[in-house]
Amino acid sequence: MKDLPALRTSLLRWYRKEGRDLPWRRTRDPYAVWVSEMMLQQTTVAAVTPRWGEFLKRFPTVQALAKARQDAVLAAWSGLGYYRRARALHEASRLIVADHAGLFPKAPGARLPGVGDYTRAAVLSIAYGIPMAVVDTNVTRVLQRLMAWKSGSPGLARKIKDLSQELLPEGRSGDWNQALMDLGAMVCLPSGPGCGVCPWPRWCLAKARGLTSRIPGLPERSKPKAVGLDCVLCERNGRVLIEKRGPGLLAGHWGLPEGGGGEVLTRVRHRITTHAVTLVLRKAEALPRRLGRTLRWVKKKDLARFLVSSLWRKALRF
Ligand code: ADE
Repeated sequence: MKDLPALRTSLLRWYRKEGRDLPWRRTRDPYAVWVSEMMLQQTTVAAVTPRWGEFLKRFPTVQALAKARQDAVLAAWSGLGYYRRARALHEASRLIVADHAGLFPKAPGARLPGVGDYTRAAVLSIAYGIPMAVVDTNVTRVLQRLMAWKSGSPGLARKIKDLSQELLPEGRSGDWNQALMDLGAMVCLPSGPGCGVCPWPRWCLAKARGLTSRIPGLPERSKPKAVGLDCVLCERNGRVLIEKRGPGLLAGHWGLPEGGGGEVLTRVRHRITTHAVTLVLRKAEALPRRLGRTLRWVKKKDLARFLVSSLWRKALRF
């Protein structure tokens, strides 16, 4: 990284001026910081902000929390959701009191329920100044853009982890981690990043190469499942035969009847949630047999009311 000291100073100066003034950033009490990080795991900053202080008023110390009854802890957590976190926090408070003299453990091997790599790094860096980088989706996006590393490139996660650790300024890891979070949350947004107010204009390679809209790009979708459909267009006297579909794709919706036919009228490809559908529409040679099917003749002008999926609209466009 060229000019690393200036890159660090630039972000830390930006953070001092523009960073969010959040209540849990005014304390170094490991217990209070830990509570904030547990709340922030799956709840937004806006929702946590009023609740963190209330929780600490109710349980001001790890000893107070450890002594509390579970229903009191759950009640103090109410509205934050994901109550598994509250149970883990409570259980961990008892372990901290029993095994760690009431202090959030610094030892690399210490494991606490509900505390993963991210939360551990956040608490240790913010409360104790231990140089551990936090990496979440915000930080990953910022660093991918900084280096113009495309999503899906080989070893990306490892490279992000190594870089985040290399960037940490000595003695400022808590501020640094929270500055990166704020840069990701306030400036280096997924779409429409505020490059005009970014503290890293001299370093950002995605900006230099015009790639900010393509890095990191949309999250990768899981591979769609290929499905083939064979349907018929069966017309009589200005009406079209439709069928209520059974279990599976578009279950319970009206569609063109499935089954054999003759000449191929059209083939269309269409995505339905996680399915890549290929529909072959044929001209009906004979009336499809009823046999346990719900069939109905509808006027052509009414078809759109029944054939709701755009799959059918595409197919009937031929
Ligand atoms: N999300 C997780 N930890 C946070 C923190 N310390 N400040 C802001 N957002 C966060």
